[in-house]
Amino acid sequence: MRLVTLPGVFRPPSDSWLVVDAVREHGLARGASVLDVFTGSGVLAVGAALAGAREVTAVDVSRRAVLTTRLNARLNGVRVRALRGDLFAPVAGDRFDLILANPPYVPGESDAIPRRGAARAWEAGRDGRALLDRFCPAVAAHLEPGGRVLVVQSSLSGEDATLTALAQAGLAAEVMVRRRGGLGPIVSARAQALESRGLLAPGEREEDLLVIEGRA
Ligand SMILES: C[S@@+](CC[C@H](N)C(=O)[O-])C[C@H]1O[C@@H](n2cnc3c(N)ncnc32)[C@H](O)[C@@H]1O
Repeated sequence: MRLVTLPGVFRPPSDSWLVVDAVREHGLARGASVLDVFTGSGVLAVGAALAGAREVTAVDVSRRAVLTTRLNARLNGVRVRALRGDLFAPVAGDRFDLILANPPYVPGESDAIPRRGAARAWEAGRDGRALLDRFCPAVAAHLEPGGRVLVVQSSLSGEDATLTALAQAGLAAEVMVRRRGGLGPIVSARAQALESRGLLAPGEREEDLLVIEGRA
């Protein structure tokens, strides 16, 4: 996949590729209508289109992310409908076979979420769940019967809370992929603060990256 990122747009890290690979390996996109919420560069949307999706829609609150996604779709010779807006607002009333999401999930020092700038891609409140707690209860209403959602997050951002929220929304939820690795640079810089709040065990400098699946 060829990808460019305009200044200020999130450059896909390893967790994005976990989702792209899972979609490809399990053949989840083939013939499917796909929604990528929090699309950023459009990596998941373009990945789904390249993996045989029937139609792909991508949503991001950032104007530059929407432009970048359109650019990356062209570069890869695929069609992606890229829309600007908050979470599911631009696709109100629409349902999809597959929903992909790599939301901001880094625990921060306050619950204030940036309204603009690059940090909007990762800042997610003190528990890292500001976006996850909005996304999980709302996602089921946008899935076709038998549809699936794949959501990426860190083990530091409440694995059980996501599984519970998806289950409460009526989805069969489980961890599909778990990859242990060192802390990313932003979390590393906050490690001591996260230790003092009990989100990291003393001396712990690893986290699990998770792809959590919910099935309608
Ligand atoms: C972690 S990045 C993920 C980008 C891309 N999906 C990837 O895997 O590389 C999160 C993205 O969510 C977007 N975002 C943040 N808050 C949002 C919201 N309320 N609604 C839609 N998109 C949002 C940010 O602009 C950013 O592009």
